[in-house]
Amino acid sequence: MHVREMYDLSGRIAIVTGGTGLYGSPISEGLAEAGATVIIASRNGTRCKHFAAVLSERGFNAAGYSLDLASDESIEKLVSAVIRKYGFIHILVNNAVTREGYGDLQDMNRERISHTLNVNVNGTMLLTKAVLPYMQNQGSGSIINISSIQGVTAPHFPYYEEGQSSPVGYTFEKWGMVGFTKWLAAYYGKDNIRANCISPGGYHPELKTLRPRFYHTYQEHTPLKRWPERDDIKGPVVFLASDASRYVTGVNLVMDGGFTIW
Ligand SMILES: NC(=O)c1ccc[n+]([C@@H]2O[C@H](COP(=O)([O-])OP(=O)(O)OC[C@H]3O[C@@H](n4cnc5c(N)ncnc54)[C@H](OP(=O)(O)O)[C@@H]3O)[C@@H](O)[C@H]2O)c1
Repeated sequence: MHVREMYDLSGRIAIVTGGTGLYGSPISEGLAEAGATVIIASRNGTRCKHFAAVLSERGFNAAGYSLDLASDESIEKLVSAVIRKYGFIHILVNNAVTREGYGDLQDMNRERISHTLNVNVNGTMLLTKAVLPYMQNQGSGSIINISSIQGVTAPHFPYYEEGQSSPVGYTFEKWGMVGFTKWLAAYYGKDNIRANCISPGGYHPELKTLRPRFYHTYQEHTPLKRWPERDDIKGPVVFLASDASRYVTGVNLVMDGGFTIW
């Protein structure tokens, strides 16, 4: 197989949760540019449809749908709608995150913990559960979970500016995402379904202005001496979604400019 063919996603149907967000939009765009039909899904269905229209105007295949990961009904509705219209789901990118309710440990109570877990853990697990039977029927699939550098390390608190923090629930959930990926890879490998994770570094286009000290400290710590750019995630996601990684499963691809190597 020619290597260009390996990276070609033509004819593949991909769902990207939170597909209009900071990392979600380049993930959706990258998959569409590689030829996939991208289903962009989050609570704000109008924004998803709008972004899909922007991609379609550029000649790519995309559609926007509503999805609330806190609702079983909404998960079921999305999966049935995609299967009804396209017949397949080849790629699932579990990218969405809610940060509502996050805080330091002393700020947490059962209600706040449950709020984020209900979306970030329950929702991710139940959407994946709903998609998997279709991947099994097809005899193939690629699941890509988006973790974080907080899924392979702990926040280096001395770097944080006064009033800024990194929530305990985020580290808890992002480490869980890596474990969930390995479990999926172990269980569904027999069905030719691959599960991999991407752990990106921090990305916020306005951070330089919002947190200048943190911005510079983080950048200095990073071997590549820069923050991620918007399109940096496109390569890893297309690699893991495509046949270019057809013998790769259960890995956590850390995309952080080397931030976590020391
Ligand atoms: N940005 C970073 O610095 C960074 C670094 C490392 C890893 N990551 C990871 O990258 C992924 C994306 O993060 P981001 O920074 O791009 O986030 P973001 O810009 O805040 O986007 C979050 C997305 O999740 C969706 N969402 C929130 N609650 C939802 C729900 N209940 N159901 C369905 N969708 C929901 C939002 O859309 P709606 O509001 O329309 O629902 C939005 O599209 C996350 O997994 C995050 O942990 C981010």
